[in-house]
Amino acid sequence: MINKLIAHVLPYMPEKLIWQFSKRYIAGETMDDGISVARQLNAEGVMVTIDLLGEFITKLEQAEENKNQYLDIIERFCAENIKGNFSLKPSMFGLLLDTEVCYRHVREIVQKAAACNSFVRIDMEDSQCVDPEIDIFQRLKKEFSGHVGLVMQAYLRRTLNDLGQMAQMPSNGHPLNFRLCKGIYVEPAQIAYKEYQSVRDHYLEDLEYMFKHNMYVGIATHDKYLVEGAMELIDRYSIPKDMYEFQMLYGVTPELRKSIVDRGHKMRVYVPFGKEWFGYSTRRLKENPKMASHIIKALFFR
Ligand code: FDA
Repeated sequence: MINKLIAHVLPYMPEKLIWQFSKRYIAGETMDDGISVARQLNAEGVMVTIDLLGEFITKLEQAEENKNQYLDIIERFCAENIKGNFSLKPSMFGLLLDTEVCYRHVREIVQKAAACNSFVRIDMEDSQCVDPEIDIFQRLKKEFSGHVGLVMQAYLRRTLNDLGQMAQMPSNGHPLNFRLCKGIYVEPAQIAYKEYQSVRDHYLEDLEYMFKHNMYVGIATHDKYLVEGAMELIDRYSIPKDMYEFQMLYGVTPELRKSIVDRGHKMRVYVPFGKEWFGYSTRRLKENPKMASHIIKALFFR
């Protein structure tokens, strides 16, 4: 109840107050902020994936601007030898306005990343985006095989089926590369598992499928239960270290992150930055009021 209330009130709270909780999860507004956080994490033996904040644009001109920003980011991060890659949300390039325009922008970004031997992860957005995002991934995988990957959401009932279909794709010399997460958007029960344990169970089912089919997996979770479950699967199937990594969000469960790194596993942290942090933070809250409890903690228990 209190969570829902906070989620509704939050968009009307002053930016300064929102920043108090957001700053833990966001590197800052500028590319320099992103680079500085990436360097700190690299020094701790952790790789990064860099995300420019922004999503669901309403005018196609914004897509061109966003693409140019990503091209600059790739240029800069590659030149500075940051150990990391790039994550993007296709709705930031007009996915829901003109899919083909979006495809061309994302293609240019992946091409640029490939030219500096890097990698672009296509984030998975809400359920209306799943089909076009899988399609964009499949088209790009054919052309830039080892340089592009996709996110899969364990809460969607369709995920195992989608994995089965993508498993048929020609590998072009590189394994399919997925990040597996629970899923952040609020989706109806017809298409998504809603029970907490049920999402966990399907997460491990999807992960096992990925391992059995030689897919590279970014195991993205802060849930200790899933981390332990993933480690058990890694042992059971003797998964080599070059076929998986753990992934976490910047600012979330740093102790768990450290314990995974100390156990000798690869770790990558998702580092968002950019001027759109206010919209991002408040949207996330409206989508997932559970996050409000993290805000209460951040505001009052620091
Ligand atoms: P869960 O939500 O149960 O969290 C487990 C524990 O972690 C909590 O009990 C709490 O202690 C801590 N925790 C989790 N979130 C926290 C927070 N914000 N602040 C403080 N503590 C927190 N989703 C999606 O739909 N599309 C995508 O492309 C991505 N991409 C992505 C990348 C990466 C690297 C990660 C880690 C996650 C995503 N997600 C995502 C989000 C994902 O779907 C999911 O919503 C969150 O990771 C939370 O799920 P957990 O598995 O961490 O479990």
